[in-house]
Amino acid sequence: METQTTSRRTKQELIEEIHQLKKEKDAVILAHYYMTPDLQLTVDKGGFTDFIGDSLGLSVEATKIKAKNVIFCGVKFMAETAKILNPEKHILLPDMGAGCSLASSITAEDIKELRKKHPGVPIIAYVNTYAETKAEVDICCTSRNALAIAKSFEEPELIFVPDVYMGQNLQQNIEAQTGKKLILWHGSCEVHEQFTGKNMKAMQAMNPDAEMLMHWEVPKETINTSFENSDGVLGSTNDILRYVGESKAQKFILASECDLGATLKGMYPDREFITPCFKCPYMKTITLENTLAALKSIETDKVSHYEITLPEDVISRAYMPIKRMLQFT
Ligand code: 13P
Ligand code: SF4
Repeated sequence: METQTTSRRTKQELIEEIHQLKKEKDAVILAHYYMTPDLQLTVDKGGFTDFIGDSLGLSVEATKIKAKNVIFCGVKFMAETAKILNPEKHILLPDMGAGCSLASSITAEDIKELRKKHPGVPIIAYVNTYAETKAEVDICCTSRNALAIAKSFEEPELIFVPDVYMGQNLQQNIEAQTGKKLILWHGSCEVHEQFTGKNMKAMQAMNPDAEMLMHWEVPKETINTSFENSDGVLGSTNDILRYVGESKAQKFILASECDLGATLKGMYPDREFITPCFKCPYMKTITLENTLAALKSIETDKVSHYEITLPEDVISRAYMPIKRMLQFT
């Protein structure tokens, strides 16, 4: 009991110190919905986070930043996107090991090879890619605007990288609507690929009245099996949050990152959310402690070792694919 009280007080102290230090350091804090609940807490709710969002929301927010410094509570490819949109600002990531199995599944060289193999075929890259990869593609997308972006091309064939499962789900939708074909890469999200038809069916059997909340990154077979007997939504993080608000159901089975369940419970306290609770190990490298350390490292005219740095030519080449993506919000 004593230990619990002490650690709770310490957390609160850390939150207050971060909140205070942000003003002194002219910094804002942006966080993804997959952060732990203490990092998701926004200023209006007693936390220190200035903006919480999905990948697209965070990219849009990154175009509006006034502060000189940004602490990015998310993963590296997200912080890089903020840097590409704000080359003159200091973008700090509290743990440089905050990677992503999708982003590390493809390189700039792989894109060049794809271009050689499929000349003239437009390349759409999921925003979950590193800056050097983005610099070689035609347009980026997030899970929120991927379908609209893919549909906007006139070409009958498109390359979509790197998430094979999301690509197959997109293919299923886009082929039915437009007849277009997607050429896919073989990356996957190590969190969302863990949802299987078997574990979803078991949860549905125990909760027959629940609706399904399924992210695009979940394998197609799991999606198809899950919707055989239940209603729900297949979409991005934002689509999932919005769907719950519009649904009359009381119970939901979540097939996405576990801490999104905490976000949902915070937004809709009278609803029930069930999930096998798969956590993203990369998102969880970001903590209150290293967020504070990143903030403390900010010094005038000095590059902090938490800071995202990218070659100028990569920034300028990766800018256009991101800018094009932002036309689809
Ligand atoms: P969204 O934020 O676009 O839903 O993506 C989920 C994700 O896996 C981020 O890494
Ligand atoms: Fe990457 Fe998946 Fe983690 Fe998102 S949840 S950062 S896609 S590994």
